[in-house]
Amino acid sequence: MVEHWCHRWTILAAVLVCLTLFGSLLVQRPSLLNTFQRPESGLPKVLVNSTTTTVLVWYWAFGYSEHLHGNVCQDRFGIPDCILSDDRSLFPQANFVIFHNRELVSGQQKLPLHLPRPQQQGWVWFSKESPANNGNLRPFAGQFNYTMSYRHDADFFTPYGWLRRREGGTGMTVDDFIPKNKSSLACWVVSNYQAHHERAKVYNKLKEVIKVNVYGGAVGPRLDGEQLLPTISRCHFYLSFENSIFQDYITEKLWKNAFLGGAVPVVLGPSRQNYEAMIPKDSFIHVDDFSSVEELGTFLKILAEDRERYASYFKWKLNYTVETYSHWLVEPYCEICTKRTTLQTPKVYWNLQNWEWK
Ligand SMILES: *[C@@H]1O[C@H](CO)[C@@H](O)[C@H](O)[C@H]1NC(C)=O
Ligand SMILES: *[C@@H]1O[C@H](CO)[C@@H](O)[C@H](O)[C@H]1NC(C)=O
Ligand SMILES: *[C@@H]1O[C@H](CO)[C@@H](O)[C@H](O)[C@H]1NC(C)=O
Ligand SMILES: *[C@@H]1O[C@H](CO)[C@@H](O)[C@H](O)[C@H]1NC(C)=O
Repeated sequence: MVEHWCHRWTILAAVLVCLTLFGSLLVQRPSLLNTFQRPESGLPKVLVNSTTTTVLVWYWAFGYSEHLHGNVCQDRFGIPDCILSDDRSLFPQANFVIFHNRELVSGQQKLPLHLPRPQQQGWVWFSKESPANNGNLRPFAGQFNYTMSYRHDADFFTPYGWLRRREGGTGMTVDDFIPKNKSSLACWVVSNYQAHHERAKVYNKLKEVIKVNVYGGAVGPRLDGEQLLPTISRCHFYLSFENSIFQDYITEKLWKNAFLGGAVPVVLGPSRQNYEAMIPKDSFIHVDDFSSVEELGTFLKILAEDRERYASYFKWKLNYTVETYSHWLVEPYCEICTKRTTLQTPKVYWNLQNWEWK
């Protein structure tokens, strides 16, 4: 059913749109994170012993395909001794084989259970979706050795974004980070609008209090890729409302749309504490900070009029830049090689479904 929204042949931009799906389970747990940086940033990028690691992409996510010419991981990301390939004939010698969840649960792809599986080989389960949109994982019990997800406790942590500390003085001031042409109060881009979603309920109350410009085709006009960030830059606030609420599930709606678009994010997602483990506490407004949506709306109106206080939400940009994967289907795959020596082995996910929902 999910395939109705996700056309396998669409380009990356459309893939990101497809990540907006349904579900509204409320889960809030204390954060395990204690740093704004990705944990692997402190790991050596070079294997201690330069034995080559082979990472096999069994099929590409969403039918997307990337040509892997040359020494891709070395040439594009400076990761040595790492062979990334989608040539299935490498199966017997592959150290890791990656399976993207969507195609498995839909039955479009199957695990190669008919092939003799090398004992030392690690099968990697990969998804950037929340449990609400990953389908039934019970059939895969005992098959996977490692997980790759936005979750901090995954074997391969692949967040939608992260912060990097700026080096030294940049000579910039806070005003340099605030787009000059703000003309709307609050904006929202939504492609998968479902009335039962928590975010739809909040939006419907909020629009009674303040004007919200909505785009994305479902409620308001469509925006193409080039229009997205310039449009958001004109808004004081951007509604970074997640499609479902799970620990660590903080997507491009925050990292790209709000942060790179130059609007202050109003977030609906996991707890404030969970966000604060990833981003500074004064970089966003949380829906849960208010006892009612009316109060939130009133606060936004007042804040937009108060230049100095509004600017305080951009101060953190003096110290951090926002980073995202340069290619979400290639760079994290190459990073498997850099983490190889840190993995538990052997390891088996005997109950992937429980891990997913725990
Ligand atoms: C790397 O591995 C090879 C073969 O296992 C071994 O002979 C060699 O001593 C190792 N090198 C280092 C620096 O550990
Ligand atoms: C508004 O300003 C931002 C940067 O300050 C720019 O990227 C964007 O294109 C501008 N939009 C319009 C409509 O001028
Ligand atoms: C930026 O980092 C410096 C050094 O840690 C700190 O003193 C300063 O308060 C930070 N500025 C902001 C706006 O967070
Ligand atoms: C991976 O999982 C399989 C199936 O449970 C298991 O036989 C194998 O030992 C595991 N391999 C590693 C490297 O953990």
